[in-house]
Amino acid sequence: MGRKKNIRFNEIENNHNVIQAGKPLFESIKGNWENSFFKNMNPIILELGCGKGEYTVGLAKLFPNKNFIGIDIKGDRIAVGSNQAIEFGLNNVGFLRAKVHDLEEFFNNDEVSEIWITFPDPHSLHSGVRRRMTNERFLRTYKTLLNKEGTLHLKTDNKPFFDYSVETLQLFGVNDLISTIDLYNSDLNVRHFGIKTRFEEKFTAKGFNINYLSCQF
Ligand SMILES: C[S@@+](CC[C@H](N)C(=O)[O-])C[C@H]1O[C@@H](n2cnc3c(N)ncnc32)[C@H](O)[C@@H]1O
Repeated sequence: MGRKKNIRFNEIENNHNVIQAGKPLFESIKGNWENSFFKNMNPIILELGCGKGEYTVGLAKLFPNKNFIGIDIKGDRIAVGSNQAIEFGLNNVGFLRAKVHDLEEFFNNDEVSEIWITFPDPHSLHSGVRRRMTNERFLRTYKTLLNKEGTLHLKTDNKPFFDYSVETLQLFGVNDLISTIDLYNSDLNVRHFGIKTRFEEKFTAKGFNINYLSCQF
């Protein structure tokens, strides 16, 4: 393992805002984010596959009365957002190092107000569908965890993945589905708060449009 990665793994082990296997809250956090972690009853917003957590940290700065949790399997990426949140004194930020497949082990039904999926790995339609974060199995989980007014947001540069996601959501029977294949030049532009993730910067620099959708269950 590289020296930098090693340092970041040590950081998330010690940072109070990261929950991962081996830390006490990892086993007991389900249904206890309000009492044991944030110590308030503010709405909880998740960023799935958060990488370095640009949305988690960016939204937390904009909305101090909401709580934000970035979730990713990669500890070295989470470390970047975790350190920033500490640096900015953000008490409304947490990071969970876990697989999105296991979300129901960490959240109760109706415990979540919003879910942001930011530039997920698109995976191939043939061999990778079961890992696509908008497949039917994941949608069932999001529906369970989101409260009644809860909203799902998706941002991606990948048009085939976006088309698949819109189609899957329509078949699933979601409500109030709105979408654009050119976010920055659309009326929906205000809805992403001008926050750009690392992957977003990378793909816009290459000339890709940003696709965005939101819906409710
Ligand atoms: C393409 S990157 C995007 C990162 C960040 N959201 C951005 O836009 O810059 C996808 C991220 O999803 C994470 N990821 C992929 N599958 C995952 C899963 N099943 N559970 C948790 N994280 C996952 C990867 O580790 C990676 O950090």
